[in-house]
Amino acid sequence: MFTVKTVSPEETAALAERIGTICPAGAVFALAGDLGAGKTIFVQGLARGLDFSGEVTSPTFNLMNIYEGRMRLTHFDVYRLTCAGELDDIGFYEYADDPEGVVVIEWFDKFTEEMPEDYVRVMIERVSPSAAEGENRRCMRFSLVGTRLCGFFEEMKHVVNSGD
Ligand SMILES: Nc1ncnc2c1ncn2[C@@H]1O[C@H](COP(=O)(O)OP(=O)(O)OP(=O)(O)O)[C@@H](O)[C@H]1O
Ligand SMILES: [Mg+2]
Repeated sequence: MFTVKTVSPEETAALAERIGTICPAGAVFALAGDLGAGKTIFVQGLARGLDFSGEVTSPTFNLMNIYEGRMRLTHFDVYRLTCAGELDDIGFYEYADDPEGVVVIEWFDKFTEEMPEDYVRVMIERVSPSAAEGENRRCMRFSLVGTRLCGFFEEMKHVVNSGD
């Protein structure tokens, strides 16, 4: 587990972009955090790091977006789903198993049991939501679930801390 603090949306996006740059095929990111925590900002950076230059928006209504960069990035937002059965309806199990692409799931914690075996968990929290000077501060906690992405996780730790 490691944590990173950011002080602006740009910094969060830049951090995620660095991660995208080194991201291997088969990586899965599961994001959690309150409304407006910065999950979609993170995905925007990740997509940029995967050489996707188009628009990245929260797939709140269509539930899933696909971005074609240097590899496919499949972006889910499961906030609106109310039961696990609906995941099947939207093709979650097929699309979330993409050995040739990258998958990212916003609000994964609504359906933790349904997640793949191996993923990088990213929990984003506002550090001090009430303080005017601190409202853009976020703490991002990265942890690994399963063992398959172990090598990537170690590399990620390095890239995130080195700032290059
Ligand atoms: N350090 C920061 N990192 C990320 N976003 C930040 C930060 N500081 C302020 N923000 C702002 O917080 C908001 C984050 O919005 P975003 O859509 O990414 O949230 P979200 O977690 O995806 O929310 P939702 O659950 O509604 O999908 C943006 O308006 C962004 O400008
Ligand atoms: Mg979002």
